[in-house]
Amino acid sequence: MKSSPQLNRRQFIKETAVVSAACGMTGSLLAAEVASPSSIGKNGKIRVGEIGCGSVSGSYLPNLTSKTFVEVVSVCDIKIDRAKKRAEQFKVPNVYPNIDEMLAGVPFDLLVNTTSMPSHGPINKKALQAKRHVWTEKPMALEVKFARELLDLAKRNGVHLWAAPTCVTSPQFKFMAETMANGKIGRVTAGLGTYGHGGPGWSGWFYQKGGGSLYDLGVYNVTTFTGLLGPVKEVVGMTAVLNPTRKVEDLGEVKVEADENTMLIMHHGQGVLSHVQTGFVYFDGERLAGEGRQLYTIDVTGTKGTMHMQGWDWGPGGVDVASQGEAVLETFCKDPGKYNWVGGASYVAESLLTGSPTLITPEHGLHVLEVMNACHESQRTGRRITVESTFKWPLFA
Ligand SMILES: NC(=O)c1ccc[n+]([C@@H]2O[C@H](COP(=O)([O-])OP(=O)(O)OC[C@H]3O[C@@H](n4cnc5c(N)ncnc54)[C@H](O)[C@@H]3O)[C@@H](O)[C@H]2O)c1
Repeated sequence: MKSSPQLNRRQFIKETAVVSAACGMTGSLLAAEVASPSSIGKNGKIRVGEIGCGSVSGSYLPNLTSKTFVEVVSVCDIKIDRAKKRAEQFKVPNVYPNIDEMLAGVPFDLLVNTTSMPSHGPINKKALQAKRHVWTEKPMALEVKFARELLDLAKRNGVHLWAAPTCVTSPQFKFMAETMANGKIGRVTAGLGTYGHGGPGWSGWFYQKGGGSLYDLGVYNVTTFTGLLGPVKEVVGMTAVLNPTRKVEDLGEVKVEADENTMLIMHHGQGVLSHVQTGFVYFDGERLAGEGRQLYTIDVTGTKGTMHMQGWDWGPGGVDVASQGEAVLETFCKDPGKYNWVGGASYVAESLLTGSPTLITPEHGLHVLEVMNACHESQRTGRRITVESTFKWPLFA
């Protein structure tokens, strides 16, 4: 099948029809019907359209297509070959080359946005304007003001907006929150988190304006600590670029403009502090190797005890706890249950069907964005930055 990122409408319909036929699927192309919240779940399924068919879509689509309550009706990418490939791989009947054609095409209820980070805000806005629910990869937008507009728009249009990551839905996160709440580690005082690797090698945007290690990786730890220790009041941070250029698969050599090495300190109020370090300049082999106990990435300390999360907070392997009177570390909560780091979109799809509340909220996502942007502002200005937004906390009653 010939491919071009600039298909005209006729070529486009022809090509996507070929994909539909090749997949042995039916489905009306470019239908004009617009999904509305009231149409949700009529066949017991949430209709999903996924935009952004790069690396992470290869993990989202197996999860989404394995759910009986989800029907993936369309995929979209400005690099149309990528969308066609995913359509063939996962038997998705409709393929689109841009968000406008996708929204005008076969109706769907939930947009899953797995595009590059600078594209998130504008795409989310268009989908919310078209009254679609949105699950977006993080961050929901690059600017806090833009993110606020998205939240307002979603409310006005009666649809939902959720942003990755999913780490507050892991059983290990819940276990840590409950252990803190039941007083086992005393008064909670401090947190320490780390997440880094050598940097993605497939796409240049990770190193350009709107990319960076904090938005891509540190965001998990910021979500975990705000979720555990509460909304942040103040931030200080430093970021650095170590490599003037990087070689990546899609663009060749790119100038590195975004943070590669980042340290962030958060004040959660009442003297509770946490520290996140993140980077695209880290060796991480020892954290991934072997089947034994994974190294810690999240530590929470109190006056009477301490907790350490094994493995990454987006895929934890257990929680070690020691406390007064029980000063030897004991491992709890090893079972991931149904938790899956790419299960956020199916988690919210289930909520749309059942009306069950979600632990992931847009207010929390916006707050995490403000904290990350405060870190960048602190680096720019050399100042401590006040954070204004907040969210409903604690997450568990
Ligand atoms: N790759 C991972 O392992 C991973 C893991 C967790 C989260 N994420 C997050 O997922 C998102 C995507 O990451 P990725 O690694 O898949 O990136 P990627 O560069 O591999 O894929 C992004 C895709 O989005 C497409 N795209 C960009 N702008 C678009 C637009 N306006 N309209 C349609 N398509 C557009 C690109 O053509 C590309 O195919 C990022 O937010 C990233 O932080 C990635």
